[in-house]
Order: sequence, then structure tokens, then C-alpha cells
Amino acid sequence: PPLTDLLKAASRKLIFATKTHSVSTMATQSCLNISLRTIVPDEPEVEPVVVACAGKFGDYQCNNAMGLWSKIKGKGTDFKGPPSVGQAIMKNLPKSEIIESCSVAGPGFVNVVLSKKWIAKSIQKMLIDGIEKWAPQLQIKRAVVDFSSPNIAKEMHVGHLRSTIIGDTLARTLEFSNVEVLRRNHVGDWGTQFGMLIEFLFEKFPNIEEVSETAIGDLQAFYKASKQRFDDDPAFKERAQQAVVRLQGGEPKYRNAWLKICEISRKEFHMVYERLGVHLEEKGESFYNPYIPGVLKELDDLGLIEEIKSDGGYNYASTDLTALWYRLNEEKADWIIYVTDVGQQQHFDMFFKAAKRAGWLPTDDALKPKVTHVGFGLVLGEDGKRFRTRSSEVVRLVDLLDEAKDRSKTALLERGKAEEWTEKELDQTAEAVGYSAVKYADLKNNRLTNYTFDFDQMLNDKGNTAVYLLYAHARICSIIRKSGRNIEELKRTGEIVLDHTGERELGLHLLQFSENVEETCTNLLPNVLCEYLYNLSEVFTKKFYSNCQVVGSPEETSRLLLCEATAIVMRKCFNLLGIEPVYKI
Ligand code: ARG
Repeated sequence: PPLTDLLKAASRKLIFATKTHSVSTMATQSCLNISLRTIVPDEPEVEPVVVACAGKFGDYQCNNAMGLWSKIKGKGTDFKGPPSVGQAIMKNLPKSEIIESCSVAGPGFVNVVLSKKWIAKSIQKMLIDGIEKWAPQLQIKRAVVDFSSPNIAKEMHVGHLRSTIIGDTLARTLEFSNVEVLRRNHVGDWGTQFGMLIEFLFEKFPNIEEVSETAIGDLQAFYKASKQRFDDDPAFKERAQQAVVRLQGGEPKYRNAWLKICEISRKEFHMVYERLGVHLEEKGESFYNPYIPGVLKELDDLGLIEEIKSDGGYNYASTDLTALWYRLNEEKADWIIYVTDVGQQQHFDMFFKAAKRAGWLPTDDALKPKVTHVGFGLVLGEDGKRFRTRSSEVVRLVDLLDEAKDRSKTALLERGKAEEWTEKELDQTAEAVGYSAVKYADLKNNRLTNYTFDFDQMLNDKGNTAVYLLYAHARICSIIRKSGRNIEELKRTGEIVLDHTGERELGLHLLQFSENVEETCTNLLPNVLCEYLYNLSEVFTKKFYSNCQVVGSPEETSRLLLCEATAIVMRKCFNLLGIEPVYKI
């Protein structure tokens, strides 16, 4: 937890120099703002500090009193200490439909209970206007999310899978929050290994025109074989080194061979992206080649090159510096996010530092443009070691995803779905559930921790899994369906009432969707959204549904609308997590 707290504190400072925009905190905040302006008119820079507190004293708490007291004591005000400041904040809150009641506790904490009428009204408005109205507004216009980024002719491994899954969710969440996102696949398509690959290709296929995209088949085997050749035969090694020079010189024959190799790799990558429903735009390392000399000259003039060279990964670093230059100056991004394993932390620290020294980035991290490395931990096998196949090979991602689908299909067949559903329905559901299970198992953990890849666990229909959540959603949909009422019409004509504590708790949790999305963005932590979603499903089942009869009760209309709102919020969470909802189970 301390690590997350640090991260939280850091990133909050970074982007949200201004106030939060989430529905419920913002509403509370605007009331508190008025109160603060009234009681301390000479301290205009003091902003309301509001946190959700889910306790029995209130829904939100304002923590300004202590800080304010230390600012104003001795300045000749009437306040006698933090509690009296708290009292004053409370007394000066404007009359508002948002707040039902307030109290002051301890050293001046102001507890705010939101009005259930207002909560109900906000949800009804969302039902009519759409969930987009609940999107947070970030102070960011355009972001680059650099994710997935596998290497040509090398295996795309589980680390790339994590980057793909986490990066896609971050991109989706930022997009939903009205940020324009450039989804960048920074593939490793350049480097000395291409000399060896090209020479080997020429040996295997003397007539290069005959190489179809399928001719090579397994690129990884091809890579291994050419590496073997490179290590064993000095003459081949010599030719391979020449090939690098000729490729870099732009000789068409070499360039075409390189293009062919890239094309074959891309095919494999796309099979993974297609299954996961992930969209990326490739600008590989080679894209930045023409810009490198200019950028290095600029850095050299500033005396910064030695620092970069001493890092060892000179090419990787100079390409990344150039890509950063491009993203800042050509693409005009104000937030650039890199999703890789934590092992690359040093590389990012180093080139971020160089960029600051060069004056490309402000030294104050609270200012824009900014860069963030989103690190993540390892994927472990059930034996607690690095995730591998039985024969200790790297797991082919396509095979992994196919197995997830097969297993979820088996589970559906065991539930007797073959009689109920068409083959197509069965297949689509198996796919949605299988891939979602893999994604959610990754996303629900704090990304910095290692996680264990375990099919049985992720496909379990109990516990905090995608399967459980998808079923919970489908069950809510079936409650609505079975009521026989026209939900679209109810949205227009019905009214939500939150008199029962279970109803009120569900309503408040629904309203907090927005601040959780915002926190996911500011801290770049998908697990925050997962936790919110899981809790939503728990609150729905344990607080609301088990205490409040829906169909056939006097409150049927209101409760059906709450079911519908829950289903909508769940679907939006699924959407942000890259999960395909199912409506029938
Ligand atoms: N290709 C690299 C790898 O497989 C990841 C690249 C990440 N992005 C970046 N701009 N360095 O480890």
C-alpha cells in the first residue's frame, strides 16, 4: 500500500493542479467553495479538499479546517482552533439541493451527507442523457499511449500481453475522459539483428520475390536458426554485418527483405490484437531514423550526449529521445505514457532526465507537457517462476488466448448450453468470456505487483473474476427482461426513490463511477476501476437485491431503473476494461 499511496500523491499533483470534476465530489466541492470564500475572503487560493468517506457520519468529508487554521491563526480572526473553523465551514454552506445534512467531527472535519433526492435525480438524468455525461474532464488535450510494442522477428511474450492489456485500458479510459489518444505501437523494427535475418533469408530463398508471407512460417524458429548460423560461421557473420550497412544505406534489395520480415511479424501480432479487440497505430523505431541526427546534434550541442551513451542502450535511448521529441513537437502531445515492465524503469528515468535537461520538459512535474512510465510486474506460472510452457519455451500468445476460449467453452458445455444456444452463440460467448477472463485477471491487480497466470482461477465463476462479473451483469439484465416492462419508457416516465438504505447505498455507489474513472486516469491504475466494478456488483447483490424486492413490489418502477442504471455503469466499466458484455447466461 505505501507504494500506491506515494504514486497517488505524486500523480494527483501532476495533472490535477486544478480541482476534480467528478459529479459528486464536484457538487460537494462547489458548495464548500462558497462557504470558504465567505469565511476566509482573504485566502482566495484555498481550495476545498473533499474525500469520499463511506462511513456512518457522511458520504464525503471536507478536511480543510486544520490546514486553514494554521494559515489564519494569529491573523486576528475570531476562530479559536480547527473545530471552530470546521463549524464555520459548515454553517456557511449555501442552501443546496445537493446536501442533506452536515456535522463537524474531531479537529474540524466536516461530514457531508448527500441528499438522496439529488442522487436519485442525477441517476435519472444519466439514464436519459447517457453515461458520457458522467465522464470526468481531465486537464489534458492529447496523450500518447505507447504500449504493446513487441519486437519484429522475436517472440511477443506475456510481458507484451500485459502491456497490451494495460495500455488498451488506459487508452480507453482517457478517451472516455475526452482526451484525444494516440495509440502508439513502438515496435522494435530496427537494429543490428536485421543484418543476420536478411542474410539468412537470402540463403534460404535465393530468389527473394518468391518469399510469400507464409513461406517462413515460424519466425521465431527462423530467428533462432539465423542466430545459430551467425554464431557458427565467421563468413556469414561478416556478410550479416555488411547487410546492416546496406540496409541502413537504403539499398532496395535489403530494404525489401527487411519489409518482408516486418510484414510476417506483423501478421502474428495482429492475430493477438484481433482476438483482444485492441486497436493500435504502428510507428516503429525505424520511423524515427530520419530525425535522429538532428535530435542528437541538438543534445550534443548542449553537452548531453555522453550521459546517454554511458547508459549502454545507446540506440534504444537515442530512438526514444527522438520519438519523444517527435511526440512533443510534431504530435503536440501534452501527456506521454509508456507502458512496459518495471525492468525498464531506469531507461525511462534516464531519458526523461535528459529531456528535462535539454529543456524539452518542465523540471516541475506538476506542469505540462509531462511523461510517465507505467511499469508493471512479471507474469508468473503456477510454480511461482516466470511463466513458461511445460518444455520451458516462451508461451505463444495466440495459443494462450485460444486455450482461454476453449476452456470457457468447455465450461459452457458443462452448464448444458449446447441445448439452449446456437453454435454461433456458444462460440461468441466462449470468446467474450475467455478473453475477458485473461484481461481482468491482469487488470485487477495493482500493476506493479507480479501476478500468477492461472486459468482455473481466472475462469472461476465465483470471486473477483470477469466470469463472475459478466454473470452478475447478465442476471441484472434478466431481472429487467423478466419484469416485462418497457425500460426505455420507464426511463422517461418513471422516478427513482432511494428510501431504503440498500437503494441509497447503491445509488451513491453508482454516482461515484466518475471519480473512480478519474482516479484510474490520474494514477494510471486500472485496478481502481476493477475494484469499483467488483464493489458495485457486491453492493447491488448484497445491499440492494437481497433486501429490496424488485419485480412485483410497490417500488418496482424505481427499482427497475436502479437495475438498469447498474447494468449501464457495469457495461461502461466493461467497455473501459476491454471486456465484451454478455446478456444471457
Ligand atoms: N520493444 C520494447 C520491448 O519489447 C518496448 C518498447 C517500449 N516503448 C518505448 N518507447 N521504449 O521491450
